[in-house]
Amino acid sequence: MAFPVDVTTVQGDILSGLLKKLETTVFFQIGDDVQSFRKQLTQIIPLITTTPQAAERRAQVAKNKQEAAQQGRKADLLPIVGVTLAFSKFGLTKLGITDSTGDSPFEQGQLADAPSLADDVSNWLDVFKNGVHGVFIIAGDCQDNIDQQLTQIEGIFGVGTAQATINEVFRVTGNVRPDDQKGHEHFGFLDGISNPAVTDFDKTRFPGQESVPASVILFVEDETKPSWTVGGSFLAFRYLSQLVPEFNDFLKKNPIVLPGLSPEQGSEFLGARLVGRWKSGAPVDLAPLQDDPALGADPQRNNNFRYDIGDDFTSQDRCPFAAHVRKTNPRNDLEGMANPIPTTPQRIIRRGIPFGPEVSDAEAAQAKTLTDRGLLFRCYQSSISNGFRFIQTNWANNTGFPFGKPIPAPGFDAIIGQASDPTSRTLTGVNPQDQGTSLSLPTQWVVSKGGEYFFTPSTVALRDTFALPA
Ligand code: HEM
Repeated sequence: MAFPVDVTTVQGDILSGLLKKLETTVFFQIGDDVQSFRKQLTQIIPLITTTPQAAERRAQVAKNKQEAAQQGRKADLLPIVGVTLAFSKFGLTKLGITDSTGDSPFEQGQLADAPSLADDVSNWLDVFKNGVHGVFIIAGDCQDNIDQQLTQIEGIFGVGTAQATINEVFRVTGNVRPDDQKGHEHFGFLDGISNPAVTDFDKTRFPGQESVPASVILFVEDETKPSWTVGGSFLAFRYLSQLVPEFNDFLKKNPIVLPGLSPEQGSEFLGARLVGRWKSGAPVDLAPLQDDPALGADPQRNNNFRYDIGDDFTSQDRCPFAAHVRKTNPRNDLEGMANPIPTTPQRIIRRGIPFGPEVSDAEAAQAKTLTDRGLLFRCYQSSISNGFRFIQTNWANNTGFPFGKPIPAPGFDAIIGQASDPTSRTLTGVNPQDQGTSLSLPTQWVVSKGGEYFFTPSTVALRDTFALPA
């Protein structure tokens, strides 16, 4: 079947991730001269990376790596920069685009949603309390290339002059972690393994990878929605700090005690059962007792699991219900029940990047975070209500989820579950041989410092609705 939208107009990153070693995210507000801003936008559109461009660059880099491997050398980094642009509801309103997307969390903004997410707004960065209008994401192979691209964008908006039409309110740079931690988030676990394939776009679907219709990720033709939404996608952005030394200290002090496991192995096992994957990415559902790095690295196998053992979907022998990956994508937990609940509407495409330095010796010694680090989380979906927000509030923060399991309740998502009292989080099923006992988590190791909900329009919508002819 034909893809339901013109993919050449869909911004890169949504269906095909921007390549990145580093990534600078620039949040801005639009000044009073909205007409000039809209005219300048016309010059920005050619700088935006489209889906085919992002896909082509990925193919180039893959080819480059393959050639280098065949010649027994390390691949050179190709100079690559990708740009995307998205607007919040505040930004749309400023531009005079007032028709509703129908998605209540987007329409109200993330600050209004903070209580439902169980965020403590006193931790939020001011920038997210003041109504950000838009965001540029500039990803690339090195900071110089990113900065050059940013200078060009700023030049178009006259930044640094009295005629500037945007005011940059916050900038943050994320970076892929060094050496063997490449691709791993700051707690040390390989990330970016499981995203759904999009039907009629993704040519390859790995075993176990769910396929979702384009409409789960993108807006498609729908007479009840504004026409400028077609080919666009909501971007949920979250600035999530991670208390890494504190997390590691907890693992160290609370190893799972099982015959044959050393305390170090017990701590590693605890970490794996909290996440649902070992640090290598190997899913505990397939490698329940010890890490299997070859499995973690193998896309043919590392998603090929459903959490069911035979027809039994009530077991957490291999993976706790509250493990992060089981909470955020329960796979067969709901679909396999007598009255299956489809989870397709809840699928999102994640494209985050870590930020902040590696843990210092002083931080490790004191088991205390002294410098901010974490994840610049972002995900794409056609509905914030069904996507990010649903996963955070109805699943991760919901102690009863997944439903239909034997009591006691699974508890909070160990990684991102949030409670109004952050010291009150508990979960069960962590020790496979003592599943009823509840484990108390002393704190939230992931601290939300806020974020915003954005809409990433197609380049056609940018041209015809957002911009004005120069
Ligand atoms: C600092 C915060 C976070 C950390 C450290 C983290 C870490 C991870 C890791 C290590 C994985 C496994 C790798 C993979 O499957 O790609 C994962 C998967 C996932 N995470 Fe997170 N994550 C964080 C925040 C979030 C948030 C805020 C959400 C959504 C509300 C989320 C949703 C997911 C989903 C949907 C998966 C894939 C599960 C699957 O399909 O098996 N994560 N995360």
